[in-house]
Amino acid sequence: MSTLSRVGLIGLGCLVALGLAACGSEEDGEGELMAPGKACLACHGPAAGNHEAAEHALGFAGTIYESRAGEQPAEGVLVVVEDVTGQLFEVGSNRVGNFFVERPVPTPMMVEVRDGDRVLRMESPAPSGDCNACHSAAGGAGRLTRP
Ligand code: HEC
Ligand code: HEC
Repeated sequence: MSTLSRVGLIGLGCLVALGLAACGSEEDGEGELMAPGKACLACHGPAAGNHEAAEHALGFAGTIYESRAGEQPAEGVLVVVEDVTGQLFEVGSNRVGNFFVERPVPTPMMVEVRDGDRVLRMESPAPSGDCNACHSAAGGAGRLTRP
């Protein structure tokens, strides 16, 4: 099957699912609003066994909070990633604090988080795009926060 027709089929699958309100329905915490704080690529990564989620492969993804300790999501924070080939990605966090890119992103990647002029930079290259795997309340690096 050619790449083009495969892309077409995935698009069609999503449209059909939308008709059934199963493809990222906005109000019930599915799709882009799902699982804030969880390790997204555990399901959406290349190695994940979850077939339904793997159709929505994410290159990097995570969740940003207003503070390390609280539950309040931070909306409108910019996440800037430069992948190992030098390609730049910029995505904003949504109203549950989630951000993500819906395409593969080669690792390692250089990462920073911006809010206007304020910047928080990860000094070491991120070895994976599964930001919440390290950045969680329990994880060693602590939650991602608004700069
Ligand atoms: C436990 C597994 C699991 C985790 C963890 C998970 N997802 Fe998903 N995700 C799925 C499945 C299954 C689907 C497809 C069905 C659906 O849309 O709910 C999906 C769908 C999506 C979609 C596609 C929706 C659309 O409209 O096309 C996005 C975007 C998404 N997830 C983002 C995320 C983000 C961001 C995180 C982390 C904060 C995350 N997911 C964590 C399983 C997961
Ligand atoms: C393998 C674990 C790991 C992964 C994956 C990871 N990080 Fe980090 N991150 C860390 C550690 C450890 C630090 C602190 C040391 C450093 O800056 O290198 C850090 C620091 C940061 C900082 C600076 C925080 C501050 O308060 O100064 C930001 C911003 C950041 N990471 C964003 C991200 C984003 C966005 C992703 C996903 C694209 C990500 N990280 C993926 C481990 C990780």
